[in-house]
Formats: sequence, structure tokens, C-alpha cells
Amino acid sequence: MIAPSLVLQQAEHMPRQDAEKRCAARAAAERVEDGMLVGIGTGTTVAFLIDALAERVAGGLSIRAVGTSIATETYARALGIPIEPFAPLASVDLAIDGVDEIDGAFRAIKGGGAALLREKVIAQAATRMIAIADSSKLVTALGAQPVPLEILDFARGFVMARVAALGGEAKLRVGALTDQGNPLLDCHFGAIEDAERLGAELQAIPGVFAHGLFLSEVDALCVGTNDGAHWHEARVDPKLPLRSDNGAILETKL
Ligand code: 5RP
Repeated sequence: MIAPSLVLQQAEHMPRQDAEKRCAARAAAERVEDGMLVGIGTGTTVAFLIDALAERVAGGLSIRAVGTSIATETYARALGIPIEPFAPLASVDLAIDGVDEIDGAFRAIKGGGAALLREKVIAQAATRMIAIADSSKLVTALGAQPVPLEILDFARGFVMARVAALGGEAKLRVGALTDQGNPLLDCHFGAIEDAERLGAELQAIPGVFAHGLFLSEVDALCVGTNDGAHWHEARVDPKLPLRSDNGAILETKL
């Protein structure tokens, strides 16, 4: 765990959520090893990761990296991180990415930042995946956030009807297209009782390229809090709140 005094000193002038994101991201950046091919996710938490990785690269760390979005590729390259295309590759050593929600069994909802399909490819191509989160992302039941779907526009109405048949309400994310030029549907299901079943049902809809349920990809979770970064390396009962190293319950909302 990073010393709390250091976290507070560095994040003095930052809103708490940003300070927590930065704390988790910097702790995860320390897990990157020389020679690794790293999959870098997308989002505001990952922006702190890129900053931290860039510092390590400037200090001599030798890595190759792929990005899950054009925004990530552009920012990482600008800071001196060697980014290459993923297309000719089959795997990465370590993926690090943010989440919209995550429970104690490391089941997450992702895709709020519209990088869904690439994020899923990199998460599944990773030998190991670390999720980085501020404490507001921790949940004991998935579903407070919508489940994003990256879809074929041709099938939009059809997919929305299929989502309704599964008990969800699909809303088009107006004005947003993914890097592949695909639209996104944000699907509200309420508290999700059987995430594995829902994931399989969503994946089976023709026209759905990827859904935002990441149920088996995450191997470890790093949560930034106002008293440092807390690592979770083993899945626990998702209905129980996550605890910090000293046993205290980690807050689930800011
Ligand atoms: C992008 C994602 C992000 O990782 C997720 O939305 C979290 O974003 P942030 O770190 O900005 O809170 O899945 O598609």
C-alpha cells in the first residue's frame, strides 16, 4: 500500500475522486515490469496511469504498449510511451483498465467511455488484467450503471427490441460513436441478479459486437482511497462489501 501521507501530499489540490483514481493508477503502474507488452485501457483513471507509466519509461522502464482507444494511443505516444497496433498481435502480458462498476468477485461493467469492443479484446487477450478504480465504483450488486452495448447500426431497432425482451431498457448514446464508428446502447436492467446469464444472452443477439459485462477478465483490483491504494488479488463473495487491508469496509459511494 502507498503511504497515506504521500497520497494526500500529491493529491492535495485534487477533488477526492480524482485523487483516488490517481492513487490506484500509480499503484498499478508499479506492477508493470521491464519487457512487458502492456494493454492500456481508456478513461480518466487510465489517464493517470499513462502519466505514471510515462514517468517510469522516462526513468528507463522498457515496455511496448497497445491502447484500447485512439485517445489513449495519442496521449500515451505524446508522453513517450511506445505504442504499437494490436492487429498483428495475439496477446498482451498485462492489461490495466478502469471500470464503471465492480464487485468483490471482480465482475465489472465497462464501456462508459465508449471504448468497449477494443477494451474487451484487450482484456481477453491479456495474460493478466488489473482493474483500477476509485471507491465510488465498488458495488455489491451490478446494475446501478447501464450495461453498454457496441452495436451494428443496421441492427439498432432489432437489438433494442431484444434488450426489452430481456427486461432491459436500451437508450441510444446520442452523439457518441466508437473508434470503429459504431453506435452504443446504454441498457438499464436494474440490479442484475444473474450477470453470467445476461452476458450470454446479450452476446447472442445478432448485431451486438460487445457488451459491457466483464465477468471473468479481471484478475486483480486496485482501489484508490483517501488512505492509499488497496489491492484485491482474490475474488470474494460479490454480495459482501470489499474491505481494506485493515479490515475496514471500503466505502462504495463518494
Ligand atoms: C471506457 C471504460 C472506462 O474504463 C470506464 O468508463 C471508467 O472510466 P473512468 O476511469 O473515466 O471513470 O470502460 O470505455
